Amino acid sequence: MDIDVKKTAPIGVFDSGVGGLTVAREIMRNLPKEDIVYFGDTARVPYGSKSKDNIIRYSRQIIHFLQTKGVKAIVIACNTASALALDTVKDEFDIPIIGVVEPGARAALAVTENKKIGVIGTEATVRSSMYEKIIKGINPEVSVIGKACPLFVPLVEEGFKKHQVTDEIIDYYLAGLKKSDIDALILGCTHYPLLRSKIREYVGEKITLVNPAYETAMDLKRILQEMDMENPDIEGDHGSYSFYVSDAADKFKQFANSILPYDIETTKQINIEEY
Ligand code: DGL
Repeated sequence: MDIDVKKTAPIGVFDSGVGGLTVAREIMRNLPKEDIVYFGDTARVPYGSKSKDNIIRYSRQIIHFLQTKGVKAIVIACNTASALALDTVKDEFDIPIIGVVEPGARAALAVTENKKIGVIGTEATVRSSMYEKIIKGINPEVSVIGKACPLFVPLVEEGFKKHQVTDEIIDYYLAGLKKSDIDALILGCTHYPLLRSKIREYVGEKITLVNPAYETAMDLKRILQEMDMENPDIEGDHGSYSFYVSDAADKFKQFANSILPYDIETTKQINIEEY
């Protein structure tokens, strides 16, 4: 850790768009003293259909940008970038960088009783088999079924959380998993918790839905404690939050205000290709 990185420095959080707000929200709830700088790559969403090389390039650019804000740690609040870029970028920077896949895998292992876990995510995440690798690395007896649900991201980004068309698409993607004997289903894309109530309704009570966000916030807390880097004190009852996007700042702000516990005042658009 650089000696000039301060305890009062913010946490950098990023995603391809609004999905990472489901992780930022858990950080706000569970680490209320921490400041957050969030970046949503709204100009280049979705990441799920992009190549590994591009996802690594995007992640590096965003980390460079977040470093200009003096962040003390970074949370990759995107399963796709966690699965494809985390291993590469985490050793390239001198601050801790954590992802959501490993915490999500651990959270699923904690709830499964029959050792059969489903994972839904983007095409890139499911193709990477990263959840399966991590789950089997911890417990080789567990079986994992992955299913890519690429249309879920645009449905969320377009605010179709409650729309009837979403029910049809959920049925299209999840019919097989519903019939299978999994007892835990990882929402392996940070956009998907925003469809949670519809997915819950569809799969029924016998499948536990696992959102990696809470476990990720707990990982961050542990790391900050271990490094003695927690923000010691703040004015008011929560940290300060700033938001940056690569496009459509107003739309992002509106969306964020509909799901975050605190209203955000400004969202700034930046040119991420400059980093
Ligand atoms: N929310 C992201 C994830 O967790 C990425 C979705 C996308 O851009 O395709 O995978």
